[in-house]
Amino acid sequence: MSKSILVTGASGNIGRVLVRLLLEQGELVKAATRHPSQYPTDSGVEAVDFDFDQPETYAPAMAGADRLVLMPRGLDLEPCTTASPLLEQAKASGVRHVVLISGFGVERLVEYPGHFQLEKLLQSTGLEYTILRPTWFMNLLIRGLNLPRQRNRLCPPVGEARLSFIDTDDIAAVAAVCLTEPRHWGQVYEMTGDEIVNFDDCAEIIAQNAGCEMRYEPATEAEMREIYARVGMMPPSIDYMMWYFAAVRAGWYEIVTPTVAELLGRRPTALAQFARKHAPVWKNAAV
Ligand SMILES: NC(=O)c1ccc[n+]([C@@H]2O[C@H](COP(=O)([O-])OP(=O)(O)OC[C@H]3O[C@@H](n4cnc5c(N)ncnc54)[C@H](OP(=O)(O)O)[C@@H]3O)[C@@H](O)[C@H]2O)c1
Repeated sequence: MSKSILVTGASGNIGRVLVRLLLEQGELVKAATRHPSQYPTDSGVEAVDFDFDQPETYAPAMAGADRLVLMPRGLDLEPCTTASPLLEQAKASGVRHVVLISGFGVERLVEYPGHFQLEKLLQSTGLEYTILRPTWFMNLLIRGLNLPRQRNRLCPPVGEARLSFIDTDDIAAVAAVCLTEPRHWGQVYEMTGDEIVNFDDCAEIIAQNAGCEMRYEPATEAEMREIYARVGMMPPSIDYMMWYFAAVRAGWYEIVTPTVAELLGRRPTALAQFARKHAPVWKNAAV
C-alpha cells in the first residue's frame, strides 16, 4: 500500500502550498493541524488532528506515513522539547525521511541554540533527513515588519542594513522536491532569494509593483519592542526578534545562495513578483 507524507504546519504559509504541490504530484498527503474539521479537504488531502503540545496526537497522525515535514512553531525557543518525542514516534511509526524547516544562520544564534539543537537532534536519530534553512520570509513584509494595522509602513530597527528575502512558495516547492527525490537525503540547504536589498529598496519595489503607498520608517529598538508588546508578543519572543534584527544589522543575511535555482531549475521569486502577487493585500493597506 502507498505510504503518505505527514505535513506539520499544513495550514501555514509554506504548508498550504506544499500540500497542494504534493497532491499535484500524486502523493498521498496528511495535513497535520489542530483544527482538522476546518481544513479544506476538497483537493483530496486527509486532515489529521495534531498538536505539538499533545503527544497523544503524534502516533495517530503518523499512521501510514513514511515521510514527515517538521515545521516548528515560529517563535518556539525550545523546539526540541516537542520534537524529541515526536521524532521518537516517527521512528516507531515507520517514517523514513524527515524534511525540517529550520532557519538561515541558526548555527550562529548562540544565545538561542534551540533550532540548531533541533537540527543536531534530527541528524542523530538515524532517520534520513533534509534540512532547509530559509532566510527572512517575504511574507513578513505583509505582516510582522510593519506598524500594527498599517501594512504600508515598514519599521524594523535595522537602518540601511541589507538582506535577502525568500518567498514561502519557493520554500514549499523546494520541500516538495526534497520529499520526492532521495538524492536530497542528508543535505542541509541554505535558501535565499536572488536579490539583496535594504528596507528602502523593499518599500520602493512594493510601491511600484503593488501600486500602493509604502514607506520605510525605521523604529528604534525600544519602539519596536513596544510595537511587538502591543500586539501581544511575550518578552522572550521580543528579545528573540531583537537578536534577529541585530543579526540583520551585522550583515548575516547579506547573501544569495544558488539552492532555489539549482533545485527548481528557475530563478527564485523576485520581490517585484511577490509584490504583484500580493498587491490586493497592500492596496487595502489600512488593515
Ligand atoms: N518568518 C521567517 O522569516 C522564518 C525564517 C526562517 C524559518 N522560519 C520557520 O518557518 C516556519 C513557519 O513557517 P510558516 O510561515 O509557513 O508558518 P505559519 O504560516 O506561521 O503557520 C504556523 C503553523 O503552525 C501550526 N501550529 C501552531 N501551533 C501549533 C501547535 N501547537 N501544534 C501543531 N501545529 C501548530 C499552525 O497550524 P494549525 O493552526 O492548523 O494547527 C500553522 O499551520 C517555522 O518553522 C519557522 O521557524 C521562519
